[in-house]
Amino acid sequence: MSSAGSSPSVRILDPDNYKARVVAMFDGRSSSYDTNSVFHPRLAAGTVDRANLQPGERVLDLASGTGLCALDAAQRVGPKGSVLGVDLTDTMLAVARKKAEQQGLRNVRFEVGDVDALALPPGGFDAALCSNGMLYFQDIAGALCQVVRWLRRGGRLVFNTPVAPMFKATSVLHQLVQEHHGLPLVDAGMPLADPPTVRALLLASGFAAAEVQAPVFTPILHWQVTVTEEVHNAMGAATPEEYAEKMWRMNTMHAIAPLRSVLSEQQVEALRQPFLDAAAELANINIRDSRY
Ligand SMILES: C[S@@+](CC[C@H](N)C(=O)[O-])C[C@H]1O[C@@H](n2cnc3c(N)ncnc32)[C@H](O)[C@@H]1O
Repeated sequence: MSSAGSSPSVRILDPDNYKARVVAMFDGRSSSYDTNSVFHPRLAAGTVDRANLQPGERVLDLASGTGLCALDAAQRVGPKGSVLGVDLTDTMLAVARKKAEQQGLRNVRFEVGDVDALALPPGGFDAALCSNGMLYFQDIAGALCQVVRWLRRGGRLVFNTPVAPMFKATSVLHQLVQEHHGLPLVDAGMPLADPPTVRALLLASGFAAAEVQAPVFTPILHWQVTVTEEVHNAMGAATPEEYAEKMWRMNTMHAIAPLRSVLSEQQVEALRQPFLDAAAELANINIRDSRY
């Protein structure tokens, strides 16, 4: 394998196999998804709250996963309303369907679908939701333009997304990859990097108005991330070194930019120690600054 040379910013590595990697990643997480994180339910609940759903409304939940938004929305729109949850990963939706059945909800259905290529009726929904999903879309701007078509006039979209970079250590790795291999990786959340960028993208996609709140939720992970919070809350790491190791695994193996899809094992391993040193130092600095 050769190094990638200089090219425009790369958000998703090996894009042809990207969707399959996303499905594999969430297949692996589906059985524990609802129990291993506090921030997904919290973000989903905040998203549905902000949609101000009314009885009888038709709701589309994009990247619905285990249905955290969709099931809540189904309760709120009641039997005269309806909810469609769409997701790439059927095992995530299987969890959602089971919960819908357990809760006796008949006004919600879940369908496998790719938001980047979905055929839905124009004007068919009063509201669209998306919690923790937008940054996974391969073509975020394209998806937003489609959402405008799927909503009726006056309909609304409510979604949350992390500021970019979500993890500071990710930027450290991207810098190393750029220095060593000339590959300009950008954070997956970059198209929605900060409130002004989000607002501009929404308006350019055809939304008549855009309200962006930041930070929206508790400072556990999203919107305003500090390394200290990553270490102590999000990553569950006890020391800067453990944090660095976890960050290495996450950043090199994640579906969005798995380094081994473009670099050899040897090239990836050569980045390991410089990354671990820099990431641990980053954690040290933040722990020191915020605690003492
Ligand atoms: C972090 S989960 C969020 C699930 C749910 N919205 C929640 O709040 O818990 C991200 C979900 O996005 C889905 N996803 C990623 N890309 C997608 C796409 N192009 N179309 C539909 N779903 C997608 C994944 O399968 C996964 O279930």
